[in-house]
Amino acid sequence: MQQEENLEIVCRAAAYFNTTRTDPAEGFKRARSALLALCDLLEQIADSIPGNVDRVICSELTQELTPFICRIHRFEEETLYPLTRTETSPGDKERREATIERLKHEHLEDRCFAEELTEALRELSMKPTPQNPDALGYMLRGFFEAMRRHVAFESEHLRPFVH
Ligand SMILES: [Fe+2]
Repeated sequence: MQQEENLEIVCRAAAYFNTTRTDPAEGFKRARSALLALCDLLEQIADSIPGNVDRVICSELTQELTPFICRIHRFEEETLYPLTRTETSPGDKERREATIERLKHEHLEDRCFAEELTEALRELSMKPTPQNPDALGYMLRGFFEAMRRHVAFESEHLRPFVH
């Protein structure tokens, strides 16, 4: 997919998750595909450094990134995670709790990282040939690789609870 298409998926999801009521199954699917579209987009941006950066894409992503991440985290923590905490939830209760705590901790790290990344994208949108392209590429890769791991693990963990 092109950068524009991935950005479009991210923007649509940011709008979709800016609501108080979201169907768990529908939201679960949408959140997965939008997070993976974000990862693909960040990988495309990393690949385009230093000579081929799309400044408009970087600028638009600067606006969307943090609200997008925060809204999806809110949906997951307020709508999906409680589904693992009912009396009839399958599996060992303590292990389920520990997993949810770990996922929440990863969310917190991602939100902090997203703020740094927003700054980096803003710089990139103003100056598409950065002084230290390796550091910037490394930062982007660190984010989307961790995010892909989180999404894969979280999907696996939540799938049995989402109907
Ligand atoms: Fe998550």
